[in-house]
Amino acid sequence: MERGRRWLGLAVLLCLSASCGARELKIKHKDSGPAYNHTLATIMVEYASAIYLSDMQELFTWTCPRCGDKTEGFEVIELVVDVQHCLQAFVGVAQDLNSIVIAFRGTHGNSIQNWVEDLYWKQLDLNYPGMPDAMVHHGFYSAYHNTTIRPGILNAVKRAKELYGDVNIMVTGHSMGGAMAAFCGLDLRVNCLAENVQVMTFGQPRIGNAVFASYYSELVPNSFRVTNGHDIVPHLPPYYHYFPQKTYHHFPREVWLYNVNLESLVYTIEKICDDTGEDPSCSRSVTGSSISDHLVYFGVELMGDPSGSCRIVTDPHIMKYGTADPEGNLVLSKTPVGSVLRSGAGLNDGQSIL
Ligand SMILES: *[C@@H]1O[C@H](CO)[C@@H](O)[C@H](O)[C@H]1NC(C)=O
Ligand SMILES: *[C@@H]1O[C@H](CO)[C@@H](O)[C@H](O)[C@H]1NC(C)=O
Repeated sequence: MERGRRWLGLAVLLCLSASCGARELKIKHKDSGPAYNHTLATIMVEYASAIYLSDMQELFTWTCPRCGDKTEGFEVIELVVDVQHCLQAFVGVAQDLNSIVIAFRGTHGNSIQNWVEDLYWKQLDLNYPGMPDAMVHHGFYSAYHNTTIRPGILNAVKRAKELYGDVNIMVTGHSMGGAMAAFCGLDLRVNCLAENVQVMTFGQPRIGNAVFASYYSELVPNSFRVTNGHDIVPHLPPYYHYFPQKTYHHFPREVWLYNVNLESLVYTIEKICDDTGEDPSCSRSVTGSSISDHLVYFGVELMGDPSGSCRIVTDPHIMKYGTADPEGNLVLSKTPVGSVLRSGAGLNDGQSIL
């Protein structure tokens, strides 16, 4: 973490708005519902960062340069690489969080600019199965649902359930990986009857319309979308506030990070936004003009190999854990050796995840 930057909690934020008065900073929704946890966000962002790396051996054994810090002791139980579609995800056991953690990689390297430009024109072009009038972005939906990623993830969740019972599941990802994390969280809830699913995404684009967002937030209420400053991606595909029912619409709850300068120190404020998903006083209050704000959250780098290739590095030693299909898509699996998890609280007895 860089020096000279401080995190301000809500209490300080209240003082700021009271004493400055220049800017209305509404603190909304002290209502019930899951509470945002800053510490947890700074841990999840490290998982979302690690999944960008391309050395399979280091990821699988959790020895990569981004594996360690706040994620020490994590045990990967499944690493899925869809080489055909340039996608990557892992499932593992975080004993300190008493949770299964699932992370998805976002768009790769220098293709980000083109990817962002493309997002302006994306249509709501798929009806989410089983949810009348809920429309979603076909590409994001398919990246999770129609590749080798989903079977790999579900297989690992099933194995975890056999080992630990009904445990907590935290799903994370950055950028397009955030979109996939949201579809995964919903899938676990809807199709696998998992009860304790938590989703935390960073710089996630919009993925569906208002009807979809309301289904989503009812089914996966413990979801937070962290957005940062002028990050362009959460602004896309566009939301047209005069056609709120017709266009893309974020699900709640956004947490917007933005900087204020006070006496030569930069403070980052974390604003907990309203429960509409489209709080006009959060990231929508500024223009989405920055790619650099997209690539660093909480001081953690969220991008991969700058060459922009989907190249992966494997090692013969880990191939004994793996299977590759004829397209080269790879799944590595192992059983955790050290981790012990308690079954999630709030589950009905006999409830099955898969
Ligand atoms: C926030 O999350 C951290 C890490 O999981 C946990 O240790 C802490 O107790 C949580 N705080 C609250 C208030 O729930
Ligand atoms: C899934 O992929 C297959 C082959 O690429 C395609 O034919 C099918 O239409 C896709 N389904 C969805 C729901 O996107």
